[in-house]
Amino acid sequence: MSAQSETVRRTSVVDIARLYADGVRIATVTAYDYPTAQLVDEAGIPLILVGDSLGQVMLGYDTTVRVSMEEMLHHTKAVVRGSNRALIVADMPFLSYATPEDALENSGRFLRDAGAQAVKIEGGIRSARTIETLVRAGIPVMGHIGLTPQAINTLGRVRVQGRSREQARVLLADALAVQEAGAFAIVLELLPGQLAEAVTERLRIPTIGIGAGAGCSGQIQVVTDLLGLGTWTPRHARKYADLHGVILEALRGYRADTEAGTFPGNAETVLMDQTVLDEVLGRGAQDRAGETPAAGIPLDRDL
Ligand code: KIV
Repeated sequence: MSAQSETVRRTSVVDIARLYADGVRIATVTAYDYPTAQLVDEAGIPLILVGDSLGQVMLGYDTTVRVSMEEMLHHTKAVVRGSNRALIVADMPFLSYATPEDALENSGRFLRDAGAQAVKIEGGIRSARTIETLVRAGIPVMGHIGLTPQAINTLGRVRVQGRSREQARVLLADALAVQEAGAFAIVLELLPGQLAEAVTERLRIPTIGIGAGAGCSGQIQVVTDLLGLGTWTPRHARKYADLHGVILEALRGYRADTEAGTFPGNAETVLMDQTVLDEVLGRGAQDRAGETPAAGIPLDRDL
């Protein structure tokens, strides 16, 4: 079969389970728009989360609590359009799954209207019933425990969870509850490495860590952190590029060239047939004697 006739198939939760069973660590990244989704897909990353972190990194809100269903749907649709291989998980925003009925209605919108294949829900034992309802309805769910940013007003501030005996016990119980409710994977956010590893060893579903050490079944990063797009990088993230610097240099260069009149140049300018313009302006070729004929994009080439 030639490379061209090979059909591209979207990764499913069954494929994720297979990667996990084969011991492949699952690289996961957030994406919020069409071009980023295209790049993530091209890089072969099997799972994209359209995280509600979009509220802070794309929309400039102070917390994820401000993100609406409409905003999440809008961005999820763009990510689905930009990718054709990765499994797309849409993050259920604050209060969109407060009751199992709300959860069914809103997760249905993500799958039916936006084209996602799964949703993510924050919370352990407190969300187990909701997860079970969705899974029974045929909606794959990714759990999320540890630091759950939508609970920021209860937690007080962003900090590592599970350091104390009591917190560690609760988190272990939360992880088991999410698994028993039928989630296909679970995000562990900001947990001590040893606790995340212990949770991972006790589960039959993949754990996807962020700020939870290398002992998880996979990792997730906020795409702007790993690409260095913002000015601040969290301690748990590794900057694989400095897009902030690259983009700033490009924009400054564009501004300088525009101000100097060196952009656009010949290569970026379309020309018309000079005799047509001469006719319109009522002038003859002799009026242009001495002028250098302008060079530009060939007339027969589209932009
Ligand atoms: O919204 C998000 O990006 C997330 C990840 C950090 C797990 O929930």
